[in-house]
Amino acid sequence: TAPVRPAASAGPPASAPASAPASAPASAPASAGRPGVPGLGDKYFPRAGNGGYDVGEYQVDLRYTPAEQRVTATVTITARATLDLSGFNLDFRGPEITELLVNGLPAPYERRGQELVVKPPRTLPRGGTFTTVVRYSGRPRPSRHATLGTYGWVPTKDGAVVAAEPDGAPTWLPVNDHPRDKATYIFRVTVPKHLQVLANGDPHPPVTRGATTTYVWTERDPMASYLAMIAIGRFSVRRGRVADIPVITAVDPQFASAGERLHTTTMEVLRWQIRTFGDYPFQTAGGIIDDPRLGYALETQERPVYLGFTPDERFIVHELAHQWFGNSVSLWRWQDIWLNEGFATYAEWLWSEHTGRETTAKIFERHYRQPPKSPIFNPPVGDPGVDGLFSSSIYVRGAMCLQALRAKVGDEKFFTILREWAAAHRHGTASVPEFVAFAERTSGMRLDRLFQTWLFEKGKPKR
Ligand code: ARG
Ligand code: ZN
Repeated sequence: TAPVRPAASAGPPASAPASAPASAPASAPASAGRPGVPGLGDKYFPRAGNGGYDVGEYQVDLRYTPAEQRVTATVTITARATLDLSGFNLDFRGPEITELLVNGLPAPYERRGQELVVKPPRTLPRGGTFTTVVRYSGRPRPSRHATLGTYGWVPTKDGAVVAAEPDGAPTWLPVNDHPRDKATYIFRVTVPKHLQVLANGDPHPPVTRGATTTYVWTERDPMASYLAMIAIGRFSVRRGRVADIPVITAVDPQFASAGERLHTTTMEVLRWQIRTFGDYPFQTAGGIIDDPRLGYALETQERPVYLGFTPDERFIVHELAHQWFGNSVSLWRWQDIWLNEGFATYAEWLWSEHTGRETTAKIFERHYRQPPKSPIFNPPVGDPGVDGLFSSSIYVRGAMCLQALRAKVGDEKFFTILREWAAAHRHGTASVPEFVAFAERTSGMRLDRLFQTWLFEKGKPKR
């Protein structure tokens, strides 16, 4: 989907690199086109994403044999060229490629680190749609990182599960891996017939042929690649409904006793969040508890995954709040992770207040008593670096920033800001400078000092 550049200055436009790549001399005839840049220039993940095209849809046809942990996949990517493209890149760190076609013709390609460099047989005209088919086969492996942990494609005892934030989607999928280029997805996953598959979005009736069953799930709303999820294994599945929204939850047999509570809490929280944040942005909802002992959760679109533990209410509130803040309103750049984690954590505080426990003001005060060197204050949340993306300050100080905003503008304006922010950027992308401008417009107050202090000041912000 076409990335929309935010009004406030927050990075280069996706399709207009500041400098042409070395391989495209400025004198090249227009008809020859030029290659898209190999990254979108995100300060945190410079190689993530690729310029020169916008993906509209990923169609993911995948077979999995858990015994060998083997994937055989055909991914069809429908995209629109935003330049006359002589070549383009995808992000892919997955198994061996067996075939690659562009518009039905075999295309030469090269793998350089995570870049899959494709040379289409003909220049792809600007504005035109083209399809890329990538076939591959082998054993995908998760990414492992000192602070980000294990993520991406993760084999489980009875199958596999995907949790790819921030840059784990290329472990299993050839992809334009940046939340700026959201797209719709069709998953068609074939597994041995004793297993089940869940994914983002809407389920279609499974079809069994011989020894295998094929599950189809469709994500009809734009989705960032790190939120794409499939879960393969044995599950006990529950279905329900909140307003008009089908709710599907599933638990691995090891967590069978947590299934009912996951389901009822998910529905109850959703009802309350719709009242608090406005219309639910997607077609379905739910959640999955699966077995790898990763100890974290991910807000995978429409259906978060809780990995290796039974989530308490707060965890469920957090992941569901991300559906509004992070999934529907996505990051223009990773530096602005506060827009995801600060908001989802503040939702936990609101839930505490709503259920008659500690108020958000009390929670704030409790944290504010911590010493300046505490990890809840450091690093500052406005530019935490890749290693700080999920540090406790992003969550705690991030939520404190919203409490400071609420104290300054008052309850009525504060909740108007939350709801209208979600509505204004629904299914889009946004940046921190835009949020600051939006909060100032909506409240009619100057807030630059407040945000400067809470997002950027070193140590404990002074109030
Ligand atoms: N966004 C997730 C949350 O809800 C955290 C993801 C952590 N990712 C990771 N690779 N450790 O807080
Ligand atoms: Zn979160």
